[in-house]
Amino acid sequence: MTTSTKAPRLRSTAWFDNPDNPGMTALYIERYLNFGLTREELQSGKPIIGIAQTGSDLSPCNRHHLELAKRVREGIREAGGICFEFPVHPIQETGKRPGAALDRNLAYLGLVELLYGYPIDGVVLTIGCDKTTPACLMAAATVNIPAIALSVGPMLNGWHKGERTGSGTIVWKARQMLAAGEIDYNGFMDLVASSAPSVGYCNTMGTATTMNSLAEALGMQLPGSAAIPAPYRERGQVAYETGRRIVDMVWEDLKPSDIMTREAFENAIVVNSAIGGSTNAPIHLNAIAAHLGVSLDNDDWQEIGLDIPLLVNLQPAGAYLGEDYHHAGGVPAVVAELMRHGKLPHPGARTVNGQSIGDNCAGREIELPDVIKSYDAPMKERAGFLNLKGNLFDSAIMKTSVISEEFRNRYLINPDDPEAFEGRAIVFEGPEDYHDNIDNPDLGIDEHCMLFIRGTGPIGYPGGAEVVNMQPPAALIKRGITSLPCIGDGRQSGTSGSPSILNASPEAAAMGGLALLKTGDRVRIDLRKGTANILISDEELAQRRSDLEAAGGFAYAPHQTPWQEIQRAIVDQFDKGMVLKPAVKYQ
Ligand code: FES
Ligand code: MG
Repeated sequence: MTTSTKAPRLRSTAWFDNPDNPGMTALYIERYLNFGLTREELQSGKPIIGIAQTGSDLSPCNRHHLELAKRVREGIREAGGICFEFPVHPIQETGKRPGAALDRNLAYLGLVELLYGYPIDGVVLTIGCDKTTPACLMAAATVNIPAIALSVGPMLNGWHKGERTGSGTIVWKARQMLAAGEIDYNGFMDLVASSAPSVGYCNTMGTATTMNSLAEALGMQLPGSAAIPAPYRERGQVAYETGRRIVDMVWEDLKPSDIMTREAFENAIVVNSAIGGSTNAPIHLNAIAAHLGVSLDNDDWQEIGLDIPLLVNLQPAGAYLGEDYHHAGGVPAVVAELMRHGKLPHPGARTVNGQSIGDNCAGREIELPDVIKSYDAPMKERAGFLNLKGNLFDSAIMKTSVISEEFRNRYLINPDDPEAFEGRAIVFEGPEDYHDNIDNPDLGIDEHCMLFIRGTGPIGYPGGAEVVNMQPPAALIKRGITSLPCIGDGRQSGTSGSPSILNASPEAAAMGGLALLKTGDRVRIDLRKGTANILISDEELAQRRSDLEAAGGFAYAPHQTPWQEIQRAIVDQFDKGMVLKPAVKYQ
């Protein structure tokens, strides 16, 4: 045995170098020799480092990791490790039916089995497309072996006729242009395709940029690495550094639980407000925390994040894209600006490079002041999330900073109380019902209505659908009413900027209050009190509940695959991170 005396005994030694059990050792070792490794290497006491590969032809956002892994390998080898690369269940956000969120927990489960069941001492998590980041971090949290994340990086900026075109965001605009006859089918395709000019993940501040930025804010990536565009040379360089660093992390026994502490999550919540992060972030961070046994809920998001201003001027809330974010200084510039105003709660939180986030980011300057604004002159004040509660749900998330004055005035009940709104509920049973009936004149939808959608949560629409942001009827749009309040138990794409109340938990399919709502009910939202209520008596509500239970409960579509059925039986709600309930005790 050549294991260093300063170092912990490696996990892989139990597989590859156990003289007390030559039978098993030989069985474990012989098949790994046949890709060219020697017995001497496998028994050298060098750490075995996994590369959890999320890239494939099925997951184009992360596909560049197939290239980057070569540099990661060189770094691992250089630092004295041995590399085993293996596939993670692919997740592609825009291509997977019925939705990619269904696969987050499947990829998580698969990766847990690989990290636990094979001789891996440390792992490089190749993150990128929306759900790949939380899936990998959740698995690392459960198995808790040394782990470092490597972002694939955003795509280059998209351009069309001299203007930046951003992933996802351009689709909303192109749809309106197509509907208005300004472009035809081919023009539509060209415009949307222009937003995806290279390898990498979505170049807007959607869920991918959000989650990759937060992986850095949590301390799980090398400083400054989240925002480097995928094709840039620095991306290959940081891949090499990441490979080098994980080997040392194994010797230092620096584990996810040492890095992703409660303090790290509080930092990430603040950074999420400052970057204008996606409303999917609370779901994923609450899930990662749950797998570490760190308490974190949507009240924490409101308490810690609500008052933080938006600094990053990226589409959909702003003007710029991923390359600009990188040139402006990326996550370290945002963190440094927060620190200058005493707003990073825990500068001492440790990161994968062994230093604190404060030490990593201190003194970093904002290089492009129009892309990352100063704290004193931000894009928006109070850019975090409100956590609403009432008889409609126990928890739902809202970005209050996107509410316009005009919008506010339409729903005011009393001009002296500018935070309380009322409207008439229009209820849709999922996205199909919405598309079929939004223009149905019988519903009498006017500018004082609020649109509800249900049956779109983790159980109702397996994994949850990104459908809460609903366009008003065409007749209203023609009159200049371009948005109505939207409320639902589904999610909303991080690339859309409409004012919605989403991730409502418990969902209708779990018999949350949303299941009891009827079209025509009056609903009151009070932002100051943080409440959302159907204005009916408790008795009436109880009666509706017993009627619905007697009718067999809230109906949802049948399962289409075995995994849908399995997950529906054991999945928790969005406010609890949509985790698999039996999985969180494995820590
Ligand atoms: Fe994969 Fe946006 S669709 S990153
Ligand atoms: Mg998305």
